[in-house]
Amino acid sequence: SAAEKGGYAHFMLKEICEQPDALKKTINPRIKNGLPDFSECGLTDEKLRSYHHIYIVGCGSAMHAGMVGKYVIEKLARTPVVVDIASEFRYRDPLLAPDDLVVIISQSGETADTLAALKLANSIGADTLAIVNVVGSSIAREAKMVMYTLAGPEISVCSTKAYMVQAAFMYLLAFRVAYARNAIDEEQCRQLISELSQIPSKVQKCVDDQTQYQKVASKLISADSLLYIGRGLDYALSMEGSLKLKEISYIHSESYAAGELKHGTISLIEDGMPVIAVATQHDLYEKTMSNIKEVKTRGATVVMVCSEDMKFDGNDVDYPVMLPLARDLLMPLVAVVPLQLIAYYTAALKNFDVDHPRNLAKSVTVE
Ligand code: G6P
Repeated sequence: SAAEKGGYAHFMLKEICEQPDALKKTINPRIKNGLPDFSECGLTDEKLRSYHHIYIVGCGSAMHAGMVGKYVIEKLARTPVVVDIASEFRYRDPLLAPDDLVVIISQSGETADTLAALKLANSIGADTLAIVNVVGSSIAREAKMVMYTLAGPEISVCSTKAYMVQAAFMYLLAFRVAYARNAIDEEQCRQLISELSQIPSKVQKCVDDQTQYQKVASKLISADSLLYIGRGLDYALSMEGSLKLKEISYIHSESYAAGELKHGTISLIEDGMPVIAVATQHDLYEKTMSNIKEVKTRGATVVMVCSEDMKFDGNDVDYPVMLPLARDLLMPLVAVVPLQLIAYYTAALKNFDVDHPRNLAKSVTVE
């Protein structure tokens, strides 16, 4: 009903706007004395030091949050992380051992493939940590350790705030793994936590002015197909941006690692094809910019989602979307918001049933 949507046209928009609050609810109780704290589930530093490998498994947006986790854990903790799609993991005879940690991510806690992956990991004797939004769900009950994201109920089939808090959880985990393994010291860990705590207000800034996303969306509605590109964390993020757009707007879209374009995908570019470039990582900016020039030369209409201090030639970018600054490592939490809103407004302008896209279910409890 309209009342349940709290004045918003769709649950998806309401849930996008709830993200600053969902972040605070999820992060704040897990910070003790300025450090990330996992004692509520029994995940001790001793355990974190003992794991040989970390696996992160989920489906859809949950798996994309895991991709962010892989980058951040490997970057900070120098510990190998494998991120896998649950339906692949469960049938792959994965190289799992009892001294590994398997992190299972699921909003609903009921996704059949994800639950099966968890049971497999348990049967091999690995430690399992579920990061779940729905309290008491099957995955929450089955895992050896569980921590809840506290996003509140997510009604829209297209996940937004659940992804946001899952990704935020990846940072908490990465900081603790890095600290436990002495890859960062206490001061560095506190500093990271303090910067993570400032993310909700930056997300709020992105949510506050929506006219620019409507403008971008109005340029996308007539496209048959489009590309998302990015490198590193921006690639992980562009996977999520592309999924949002295709699932609700029914426009074909793909996400590509920007450096991989030249190995095939660039042949798809023709006059007027939209390319959404995500460029928040300063060390990769020059490289991504040269990919932007390559697609622009071939006629692409370029939307660039980038940090507000990034300089570019106005001839290369048709629609810049500038983001409030945060440490590069944390930028996915900020940059996902414009991607969600661009997808939302594209589908809304097309008058599609944004909250109930065709052929999709909120939770996939069959194989
Ligand atoms: C469905 C939903 C997606 C979600 C995925 C995993 O496909 O439409 O939004 O990301 O399932 O769901 P889960 O509840 O396990 O996070």
